[in-house]
Amino acid sequence: MKNLILVGFMGTGKTTVGVALADSLGIAHHDLDAAIIEKEGCSIPELFARHGETYFRDAESRLLSQLLDDGPQVLTTGGGAVLRKQNVEIMLAKGTVIALYASEEELIRRLENDTSRPLLSGGVAERVKTLMAERAGAYDFAPIQVDTTGKSLEAIVDEIKAQVVESAKDGKQ
Ligand code: S3P
Repeated sequence: MKNLILVGFMGTGKTTVGVALADSLGIAHHDLDAAIIEKEGCSIPELFARHGETYFRDAESRLLSQLLDDGPQVLTTGGGAVLRKQNVEIMLAKGTVIALYASEEELIRRLENDTSRPLLSGGVAERVKTLMAERAGAYDFAPIQVDTTGKSLEAIVDEIKAQVVESAKDGKQ
């Protein structure tokens, strides 16, 4: 069993799905944002405010690489972990990457009261629209793509498991 790495925009349900997927497969779940918080000893908004986004992205790249040496596991990542090419390369080399999607409308609905994501401060709907446009195509590198809009957690987990089996057969990963 290889590492299964969940990527996707904020609010696509990576962590919730990752916990359920790991549980259903009986393997460990690690979360990249949680590892950053633990290592840095402060929350993500605090980290952005104190040190800036580049510092956060450096910690993210470092811990991504470390965690991927620690599998097999389900690894859930932050929505921006795909922005650096080196991160994408390491994910593709060390696991099977699964991208979760949801419609813009659904993401805005899920994120509208969120205060834990510094990149959304100043107006969630506007920020989601801007970032989704900036990141168009950023998650397309994943060989497995799952739309979560309107689906139950169980249905999403089943769909991922079926697609992982298919992609292993096809030799995609
Ligand atoms: C970010 C997504 C967040 C977190 C940070 C930056 C992003 O994770 O890593 O706030 O750039 O999309 P989630 O996708 O789990 O919200």
